[in-house]
Amino acid sequence: MSSQSKGDVKDRSLSKEGIYRIEWAGREMPVLSLISKRFQKERPLEGLKVSGCLHITSETANLALVLKAGGAVLEMCASNPLSTQDEVAAALVTEYGVPTYAIKGEDDDTYYRHLSAVLDHKPNATMDDGADLIANIHQKRRELIEGIIGGTEETTTGVIRLRALAKEGRLEYPIIAVNEADTKHLFDNRYGTGQSTIDGITRVTNVLWAGKKVVVCGYGWCGRGIAMRARGMGSQVIVIEVEPIPALEAIMDGFQVMPLLEAAPLGDIFITATGGTSVIDRSHFEVMKDKALLANSGHFNVEIDLPALETLAANRKSTRPLVEEYALRDGRRLYVLAEGRLVNLAAAEGHPASVMDMSFANQALALEYLATGERLAPDVYVVPEAIDREVGRLKLKSLGISIDSLTAEQQRYLASWEMGT
Ligand code: ADE
Repeated sequence: MSSQSKGDVKDRSLSKEGIYRIEWAGREMPVLSLISKRFQKERPLEGLKVSGCLHITSETANLALVLKAGGAVLEMCASNPLSTQDEVAAALVTEYGVPTYAIKGEDDDTYYRHLSAVLDHKPNATMDDGADLIANIHQKRRELIEGIIGGTEETTTGVIRLRALAKEGRLEYPIIAVNEADTKHLFDNRYGTGQSTIDGITRVTNVLWAGKKVVVCGYGWCGRGIAMRARGMGSQVIVIEVEPIPALEAIMDGFQVMPLLEAAPLGDIFITATGGTSVIDRSHFEVMKDKALLANSGHFNVEIDLPALETLAANRKSTRPLVEEYALRDGRRLYVLAEGRLVNLAAAEGHPASVMDMSFANQALALEYLATGERLAPDVYVVPEAIDREVGRLKLKSLGISIDSLTAEQQRYLASWEMGT
């Protein structure tokens, strides 16, 4: 299928390796491949110009191919400077005809130049992971708004940003919040982030989890997954929360819960997954143990206050790839992984294909919904329940699992209010 496209990637000669990776991920993406077959026949996205700002991984490449199969004319850029798989980016431009702008380790200027390049495509629909594309359109490329029927957003952080924009009455086109689908956050955020975070930290440090004290900041779906998997590896897990109900859930799930300032001197490994900013700050660094590891799995690199850590450090050096040692003036050393960027994508490969299958099935079907349904007013919408359930049904089917269904009597019972004991 070789067809060279425009784009900016590290090295086009990596494409063979990229093809293998994309095909390998595809093995575990049966729902997407079913959608692809239908899209090839029905072409619901015929001629739709889509600009996507997602992590450029082998799983994302499989999504790109499904959208192309549906008739979309797609251009892609990275949604994080450290998450790109260069081989995959090379294969997208050289083999699959998808203009792609993404280089692992790109600096901030290049990151925004790449974002701008996919906006030059003059999209009719946007796909975001973190809302950078939409924010850019609203701030700098307002002339594009007229041609856009809608967009999708993949992640919690992006949905929070877009709801803030909508609340100010300034959101200019409809967004489907893919993250809000049950078949997305219950699986991707929990099992995906849980596994890939442990994977990323292990790959770059080779740390033994058994017996470690692991401090997980945030008990949303991502934090839950991380806490659950760290416990599974034999760690003692402390959860940090700011909301009372998730804090209670963490206690009843069997974790210790306390303020971060109390946990700071205890932890061996700290992992943030809050979506917030400056979660771990100077006051915490000041009391941490020598040799503590600090990692972030939230979307942006602001959860660990690195500028504050910098001011405490007498010296800074890279000790292993993606491990930065901060030698503090009092002699303690703290280690920051993957520059405080999402460790599961920067230091590992992101979530496994099997969960991305459901997340990206929601992306593909949400785009189809925008392209073929009634024009929506600007707002943040959840994924229609019918799509969410269909993705769940197809995933179960692909796993070869059948489930019971309600009898007519049970359906009547559940629909009535008259019947009691
Ligand atoms: N987000 C988390 N994991 C991912 C992956 N493997 N591909 C794309 N986006 C992701």
